[in-house]
Amino acid sequence: MQLNAILLSLFAAAASAAPTGSSCPAPERKFGIMALRSASPIHFAPASASQGKLGFNFPASKIDAQCTDGKTRTDAIFTIKDGELYLYGKDQVQQIYVDRSGMGQGVLGYFNKGVENPPRNGELKGWAVDSEDNLTFSGTTLQACPGADNAWHIWLSGVSKPAGAEGCLGFTARVVTKSDAVQCTYSTFNAGTAA
Ligand SMILES: *[C@@H]1O[C@H](CO)[C@@H](O)[C@H](O)[C@H]1NC(C)=O
Repeated sequence: MQLNAILLSLFAAAASAAPTGSSCPAPERKFGIMALRSASPIHFAPASASQGKLGFNFPASKIDAQCTDGKTRTDAIFTIKDGELYLYGKDQVQQIYVDRSGMGQGVLGYFNKGVENPPRNGELKGWAVDSEDNLTFSGTTLQACPGADNAWHIWLSGVSKPAGAEGCLGFTARVVTKSDAVQCTYSTFNAGTAA
């Protein structure tokens, strides 16, 4: 009787582990982020990820993601899981943080989970896509602030001149589904010593 019970439980375990096509949970939506801000340099620009920051119109030298198809791509690919925003990657989990503290002023970036830490006041949970495919964090929209090389860095809206940056533009972050999504590892700020 006891042996039967063991055999039965072994059989049940084997059956539940057996692949039924793909036994993975339903795949998360993979998407790019497009800026909507008419009559501005960022209108329709795809969000890129480089050196730990998200932004638009990065110079070619900053488009340095390592993707599984071996191609470079300007548009970063994201997924959301349980209100947390990730770059769509392969081995290294790269996650987006927002720092709404007085120090952070809405700064936004990504870090290598398990290897690096987000800023002390960095928040991870609160991302949502609404019925019109607009992405927000905790109900707040995003803004882009001009930096060097004609690049624009993405911040959370709320502080009009975060870290003293002038000329920031609020924009709608429109989520665009990527049917051709490839996994990439994006550079982080300290990646300069990598081979
Ligand atoms: C999404 O963004 C568009 C364009 O900015 C805006 O008109 C619309 O009201 C937004 N949708 C929601 C649900 O906030």
